[in-house]
Amino acid sequence: MTIAELSPLPLAHLRRGKVREVYIVDDDRLLLVATDRVSAFDVVMREPIPHKGAVLTQITAWWLRQLTGGVAHHMLSADTDEIVEAVPSLADHRAALAGRAMLCRRTTVFPVECVVRGYLSGSAWKEYSATMTLAGESLPPDLRESERLDPPLFSPATKAEMGHDQNITMAQMSTMVGPRIADELERLSRLIYTRGRTIAAERGIIIADTKFEFGRDRDGRITLIDEVLTPDSSRFWPAEHYQPGRGQPSFDKQPLRDYLDAERRAGRWNGESPPPPLPPEVVAATSARYLDAFRRITGTELAADGASQ
Ligand SMILES: Nc1ncnc2c1ncn2[C@@H]1O[C@H](COP(=O)(O)OP(=O)(O)OP(=O)(O)O)[C@@H](O)[C@H]1O
Ligand SMILES: [Mg+2]
Repeated sequence: MTIAELSPLPLAHLRRGKVREVYIVDDDRLLLVATDRVSAFDVVMREPIPHKGAVLTQITAWWLRQLTGGVAHHMLSADTDEIVEAVPSLADHRAALAGRAMLCRRTTVFPVECVVRGYLSGSAWKEYSATMTLAGESLPPDLRESERLDPPLFSPATKAEMGHDQNITMAQMSTMVGPRIADELERLSRLIYTRGRTIAAERGIIIADTKFEFGRDRDGRITLIDEVLTPDSSRFWPAEHYQPGRGQPSFDKQPLRDYLDAERRAGRWNGESPPPPLPPEVVAATSARYLDAFRRITGTELAADGASQ
């Protein structure tokens, strides 16, 4: 089943993101549901991308199972049968949720995006090429676009409701959450990214940068939440095409971006909502890329009903 819009679930709806819907199960638990919506250039497309939601949820679940050493995380289950068993009112929605839902421990979210950059790209490259800084702090001279950074940079940002997140310094982050928490979120972010980057690289994917979120659970534990090391929260590059000194193709969204760029150049799209309709071959190519990301990272096929094996 391909899904852009979920039919209403018998749960209180907490939040609608560009891609995910968040529901309240009870005081202690949330249900995160990844739809098949895709966004590019900050615009959500009309056409769903088959399997994308299940790919995102099951990649997160896979990473969380790899990361059990030393990192508390929010996942209770990403197995739809288990979720329906735990929340019986979802029984009629089993098919719509298959593979794409994650039952999570509910936390109080720290209001910072914990960005880790292992390669110089995107807004970081833009700032660096203008001023040789990142969030105002100096970096070594002579770095090239897409250059690998060792050690990776921790570059926190504020969570913006609208528009782009704003980079902040460690000093600003410390003021927001306290110095002890700021240090711990940095330590955890670097640890998870570094483990993830190594595992992904062995499988032909460069995770250039990524964003983590953390919350505090009801026992006060700092907990990794949200999606983890997915193509939507990270820049994935195909390792076989990596070449520093230029921008890199996106592992998952390149066919979509190329199509939208061509529409823009031809004057058929102004870059804003509503987006142009996507031809079926662009939808199919994008879906294939997401499935390939799942296959490369986990070494398994996404199961037919969207569950991971
Ligand atoms: N365990 C958790 N406890 C509390 N909040 C959580 C938890 N896990 C995730 N969240 C929150 O759920 C929300 C997910 O929705 P979000 O709006 O980010 O969706 P999205 O599909 O990523 O869209 P966008 O692209 O607009 O960010 C985030 O605000 C995140 O902080
Ligand atoms: Mg989000």
